[in-house]
Amino acid sequence: MDRTRLLHELGLGPVWKLRQRAAAMPNAGETVIERGDGPSVPPLPACSLEPGLAVAPAGSVATMDWPTLEAAVAACRQCRLFAARKQAVLGVGDRQADWLFVGEGPGAEEDEKGEPFVGQAGKLLDNMLAAIGLRRGENVYIANAVKCRPPQNRTPEAEEIAACRPYLARQIELIQPRLIVALGRPAAQSLLQVEVKIAAARGRLHQYQSIPLIVTYHPAYLLRNLADKAKAWEDLCFMTQTMKNLQDPS
Ligand code: URA
Ligand code: SF4
Repeated sequence: MDRTRLLHELGLGPVWKLRQRAAAMPNAGETVIERGDGPSVPPLPACSLEPGLAVAPAGSVATMDWPTLEAAVAACRQCRLFAARKQAVLGVGDRQADWLFVGEGPGAEEDEKGEPFVGQAGKLLDNMLAAIGLRRGENVYIANAVKCRPPQNRTPEAEEIAACRPYLARQIELIQPRLIVALGRPAAQSLLQVEVKIAAARGRLHQYQSIPLIVTYHPAYLLRNLADKAKAWEDLCFMTQTMKNLQDPS
């Protein structure tokens, strides 16, 4: 896809055009792929849960099939986020997808509809997918670090992310994506289990278990920080190139 069309699909035309420097960015072919274990920062401190809030029983979740997982998440009360949700939002898309995108947690519209990324941030995510030739549901699965909406759309807390992590882990095991894209810090931290700064973690290839993982900005952040859209474009190029290499390593 040529750059102009890509920018158009992203809905970023004017912003991108203002930033001519973007043209000098390394193109995808030149992107350096760094293999590594992620940033060398200390692991997150152990989560202390409130009395009465148990971590999801990872053992049983680890063997669930899709219908059981769906039912378990719909009925889940493993963290305090169950209290204000209208419904839990498991994820959407192709359950045999090569691509898995992981966001933070449902917002008001997602809580209402039961599908991830259907609000403003979702529109940008759809545009980002279109920019690299992808469509929601076709070889793409979209999930979140937490399945229930945090009140007032606050960032989910470490213990909520930890409580919900077995469900995300099981989704990944069932899907077996070729590439995982962590959208924003909560997703990256849930998957990498280390403190993450997006600016430092993006542009490198991380791993979730043995699955390659790329970290990029959350679309909601990009809506507020237009200047970083240029970096998001670089990340999209990096993702596409990485997937090409994974599909055809020769
Ligand atoms: N933001 C997210 O992280 N996930 C959603 O599903 C919607 C908005
Ligand atoms: Fe359960 Fe996750 Fe919802 Fe917490 S956010 S109640 S762990 S499904």
